Amino acid sequence: MSLALNGPSELLFYVNGRKVTEKNADPETMLLSYLRKKLHLTGTKYGCGGGGCGACTVMISRYDPGTKKIRHYSANACLLSICSLYGAAVTTVEGIGNTKTRIHPVQERIAKCHGTQCGYCSPGMVMSLYSLLRNIPKPSMDQLMEALGGNLCRCTGYRPIVDACKTFCKATDCCQSKENGICSLDQEGELLDSEEGNRTCKKLFQEEEFQPLDPTQEFIFPPELMMMAEKQPKRTRVFYGNRITWISPVTLRDLLEAKAKYPDAPIVMGNTTVGPDMKFKGIFHSVIISPDGIAELNAINYTDNGLTIGAGCSLAQLKDILTDVVLEIPEQKTQTYRALLKHLRTLAGSQIRNVASLGGNVISRHSTSDLNPLLAVGNSTLNLASKDGKRQIPLNDQFLMRARGSDLKPEEILVSVNIPYSRKWEFVSAFRQAPRQENALAIVNSGMRVLFEEDANIIRDICIFYGGIGSTTVCAKKSCQKLIGRVWNEEILGEACRLVLDEIFLPASAPGGMVEYKKSLIVSFLFKFYLEVLQNLKMMNPSLCPCLPAEYGSVLEDLHSKDYEAVLRYQKVDTKQFLQDPIGRPIMHLSGINHTTGEAVYCDDMPAHDQELFLAFVTSSRAHAKIVSIDASEALKLPGVINVLTGKDLQDVNFKDYLEKEEILATDEVFAVGQLVCVVIADSDDKAKRATRLVKIEYSDLEPLILTIEDAIQHNSFYEPERKIEYGDVDEAFKTVDQILEGEIHIGGQEHFYMETQSIRVVPYGEDKEMDVYVSTQDPRLAQDMVASILRVPSNKIMCHVKRVGGAFGGKATKTGILAAITAFAAKKTGCPVRCVLERREDILITGGRHPYLGKYKVGFMNDGRIMALDIVHYSNGGFTLDESVFVIELGILKMDNAYKIPNLRCRGLACKTNLPSNTAFRGFGYPQAGLITESCITKVAAQSGLPPEKVRMINMYKEIDETHYKQEIDATNLIKCWNECMEISSYYARKAMIEDFNKKNYWKKKGIAIIPMKFPLGVGSLAAGQAAALVHIYLDGSVLVTHCGIEMGQGVHTKMIQVVSRELGMPMSNIHLRGTSTEMIPNGNCSGGSVVADVNGMALQDACRILLKRLEPIISKNPYGTWKEWAQEAFNQSISLSATGHFRGYESDMDWEKGEGHPFVYFVFGTACSEVEIDCLTGDHKNIRTDIVMDVGRSINPALDIGQVEGAFIQGVGLYTLEELKYSPEGILYTWGPEHYKIPSFCDVPAEFNISFLPPSEVARTLYSSKGLGESALFLGSSVFFALHDAILAARQERGFSGVFTLNSPLTPEKIRMACEDKFTKMVPKDKPGSYVPWDIRI
Ligand SMILES: Cc1cc2nc3c(=O)[nH]c(=O)nc-3n(C[C@H](O)[C@H](O)[C@H](O)COP(=O)(O)OP(=O)(O)OC[C@H]3O[C@@H](n4cnc5c(N)ncnc54)[C@H](O)[C@@H]3O)c2cc1C
Ligand code: FES
Ligand code: FES
Repeated sequence: MSLALNGPSELLFYVNGRKVTEKNADPETMLLSYLRKKLHLTGTKYGCGGGGCGACTVMISRYDPGTKKIRHYSANACLLSICSLYGAAVTTVEGIGNTKTRIHPVQERIAKCHGTQCGYCSPGMVMSLYSLLRNIPKPSMDQLMEALGGNLCRCTGYRPIVDACKTFCKATDCCQSKENGICSLDQEGELLDSEEGNRTCKKLFQEEEFQPLDPTQEFIFPPELMMMAEKQPKRTRVFYGNRITWISPVTLRDLLEAKAKYPDAPIVMGNTTVGPDMKFKGIFHSVIISPDGIAELNAINYTDNGLTIGAGCSLAQLKDILTDVVLEIPEQKTQTYRALLKHLRTLAGSQIRNVASLGGNVISRHSTSDLNPLLAVGNSTLNLASKDGKRQIPLNDQFLMRARGSDLKPEEILVSVNIPYSRKWEFVSAFRQAPRQENALAIVNSGMRVLFEEDANIIRDICIFYGGIGSTTVCAKKSCQKLIGRVWNEEILGEACRLVLDEIFLPASAPGGMVEYKKSLIVSFLFKFYLEVLQNLKMMNPSLCPCLPAEYGSVLEDLHSKDYEAVLRYQKVDTKQFLQDPIGRPIMHLSGINHTTGEAVYCDDMPAHDQELFLAFVTSSRAHAKIVSIDASEALKLPGVINVLTGKDLQDVNFKDYLEKEEILATDEVFAVGQLVCVVIADSDDKAKRATRLVKIEYSDLEPLILTIEDAIQHNSFYEPERKIEYGDVDEAFKTVDQILEGEIHIGGQEHFYMETQSIRVVPYGEDKEMDVYVSTQDPRLAQDMVASILRVPSNKIMCHVKRVGGAFGGKATKTGILAAITAFAAKKTGCPVRCVLERREDILITGGRHPYLGKYKVGFMNDGRIMALDIVHYSNGGFTLDESVFVIELGILKMDNAYKIPNLRCRGLACKTNLPSNTAFRGFGYPQAGLITESCITKVAAQSGLPPEKVRMINMYKEIDETHYKQEIDATNLIKCWNECMEISSYYARKAMIEDFNKKNYWKKKGIAIIPMKFPLGVGSLAAGQAAALVHIYLDGSVLVTHCGIEMGQGVHTKMIQVVSRELGMPMSNIHLRGTSTEMIPNGNCSGGSVVADVNGMALQDACRILLKRLEPIISKNPYGTWKEWAQEAFNQSISLSATGHFRGYESDMDWEKGEGHPFVYFVFGTACSEVEIDCLTGDHKNIRTDIVMDVGRSINPALDIGQVEGAFIQGVGLYTLEELKYSPEGILYTWGPEHYKIPSFCDVPAEFNISFLPPSEVARTLYSSKGLGESALFLGSSVFFALHDAILAARQERGFSGVFTLNSPLTPEKIRMACEDKFTKMVPKDKPGSYVPWDIRI
């Protein structure tokens, strides 16, 4: 045999044009860690490690000697073993451009179009777009969106990235409305002044400035690799790792030999199933067979019967092949191919589709495979081969359920798949519903096929498969048999639904939950199929069936379009303002280019120190239990493991001032799954993580187990104190109102999902016990204090440094402090530098998120909609430690009035203590939940009183000068302005009428619209919490270095601060530098949060600059036309200090909780959003059609950054209210631990039309240049989508005869939308009696 497994092969591939060889390549080394650790190319980022986020995107290029073509494709470096790269050329973000040589147009445009905030996702975005442009220099909008669908961004809200990408698009994607002969795209760069002091523009950039895309400038494919592919003898390559042997056969014969020798070894193609299984499920393979370039596996044959496609073809190649075929072959023959194409457009992201193989998808037999149901109904056959010969098996229900005799034998491989042509009178359809439209596994999918008797509507054959229901794809075989010979009419539809629901069994506690919803989808898809076929039959022979009722027409139309439009209206800078003065101008984030070139350095990008060690956590697997024993002996035996620390090592240490009674590592008892129990320290991160799995902890479960808010209420388990505010006389007012309504709403939690996971690097110095702590935190002072406390050293020995943070949103404060302290403890214990970077699943599990809320209310109102009395209770799920839970409750109570003056108001708030991970700060800090409760109550008042919701909102809104329920004065003029302007800009009433008309004409699709006002009070609770300090140095060459205590976490605070210094000192921004934040430069800084970071630090910088100017005034006035270099030199000569610290005292703030009144806030940010949506009543799917936002921002310091904050927060709010759903088991185990299970908004969730307007400038007392902080407020405006969905659901319910008030909880996922649109299909679904089963998940 030619299979030679003796000597190891040498691995050879190229990275960014440079040859890389590895004599001892380890199959366990993924390209991502190889790039980052071995080649120090840290531009490629880790975001999830499982192919779900796109942060690690690179471009792979391969030469095919058969076709003589080079294929360029994007791929996830986290799923590619380096051993799979033999002969490939890898291009990373560093390879396409950088600030030292040349910036690539893709990098330039994403940065200059303001498409970066924290910048952590940017290299991945760049590489996805770059890979597309390498193949298609002028892509269409559809191609663009497909290429980017696998990339997530948590900051920007995507709109500016889309704008940047569109600049590469074909002109055919223009608006198509050539008024005056000019396409609006041609005008987009223009800034159109309007009368009110605002300017309207389509974009915040000048396209003319951009370098053109010049494909001739790109790297050529390395000639050496081409030669190798052409000339090198084809020999199996073998790589021996520490634990795994990787065999890469290059001929079919060798592949079959290898499989015969190692029948248990997987055939790794794209590694998108095997890789995640090994990583996340702990499945281990000591031998891996990975075929490379085997012609038979990539062949495509057109036979008389159909298409035979090599099992090694990637899903992207499959899509291309099928796209060509459906153009060439008559439609009746390509029914299965068209159905496959429908799913191939949305299946995963492009990086996955580019590497995942047809064979891998088929053989994996995932329950959610989008291909198997279609291949099965299409009567596909599998061509198998082994050393003993070839054979064929059908891809049918027996194969899918792995029945003996119908499956592959261990020594067999799949060579190709034959997909027959469809026949005349045969129709195939594909359906899928996922939690998110793109890059999300289906909840349920289906393939359906029917064949009719010639020219008749009598069923000759029918076949239906469903995915997502059981452990694999299932077939409704018996039902189909009963339908043969029947006529295709409504009668058979009803019968088919009943038969299928009977046959496809789904127990009430089935894994994945959503049981009733899944059953509804089973019949909804069947109905859609019925209509689709009806339509097709009608086209073939109109006499065969009746016309579809007119109001059913839209049911088959695709909900999702890929076109995006945006109009941005922002404030015009005063014409008298100096050109050099940057305040008020839309200046790009100053790290924008570094973000897109990958040169921006994040904590884990810093090179490893000599003798650096790694730390990983063992966490509790029980929600409430006694720790019986901890056995770390096996872990300690693993070579490379240095130590395992337990709670006993930290017994004398506590953070007395910070975490009341909280243990850093649990010792006797655990209170939540995910609680930290042990720490493993090893000489590599892989070993540390592997060793954590070897630590054995024995538990004994304890009672009570309190997981939900309802559990906590039952057990009276609350954190102290309970908070309450009472305003007016609520009880008395209830006696005089026309109507009283009671209700409740539940709002789910939210995971921060910052793209950069928690990262810490501690470097101890023997001398004087000093330590440098590099940490991705919003609160370096807290990290410093906690580290000092755990090490029992004074704070002056601990220096915390933060260059930038890859997103935080409130999640990188307290929790990061704890993690930093433990890492520092490990560094002290070992005397070595220690690095701790959480994996995504650990991060989600350990660090908590936004508090879930339950709001209960009683509201009294008059028949004209005036709310006279409101009695409300907020319960939040705080988790197992206090953290910020009471503070969140307090702010929730203070902000719960949202934009409304309610004359008699009582609000109580209680934070529940539960056995869940501890929840913490999150953008908006209680307001997004409290506001939704109030808005939900108002929506119900409108429904009950029969008034339009916008009328009830308007009638109850604050008007002009008034006082809040805690008796702080409020001037609501701008609130009303925002509302009125939004009403006008959105053409609210005209569109509402159009929506009503649409809803009358469409039974299964409904549209909805909602307009929601917002009043967001700004303040941080105390004078001390708002203070800030800054430091400004002027050097003798006239350059300036500034530091302040704000953290750059994407919001662009450093850019704004340089703008401030530029204005204050009257020097160009290019003269000013800002390096990062450090407790060494500025002591005692406050946590960056609460939307005030730019406000307070800007004032501190202003102070420092003014001190310097005062000192330099005599010198400058003597030489007014001098340069900064001259003035600095002169000051130095006169011994005048060129360095100054500035301080801002903070804002006066008081709140007396005893009296329930005070002045806790500095000012209010106002806004209004109007959103329109369309829902598919049969599936619960929805589309965000349009959103208009009007914001009162005072005077914007930087409109580009401020618009970025508004739209980024808005999209995060859309995620909170419509998409993001944390799921826990009844034992308190988190199911949703990564992007595979937890869906944050993606490109497809951006409203197709997204317009943002700022009110004309207004003066705001006591703020920096009259600006307002915008970090958090607009998140709440995402609720306009929630209420637009509510409106659409209401229309559906009313039409179906469900009158009366109904409750919708948040998030309004497809499941909730579908189940709220009750109809004849949901009625068919058998319901399981609550309490008769243990559900898969619980609502916390
Ligand atoms: C983030 C993410 C999102 C996804 N989303 C979707 C989705 O929306 N819809 C969907 O359908 N799928 C989805 N998937 C699953 C993906 O489509 C499959 O993992 C993929 O098709 C498997 O192909 P592969 O080449 O990567 O398989 P590999 O991981 O390389 O192999 C998988 C299995 O197939 C076997 N195998 C592969 N080829 C052969 C062969 N020729 N002969 C015998 N056995 C073989 C291997 O032994 C192994 O057991 C997603 C995956 C990820 C990671
Ligand atoms: S890190 Fe690779 S896709 Fe997320
Ligand atoms: S800029 Fe995209 S994740 Fe922060």
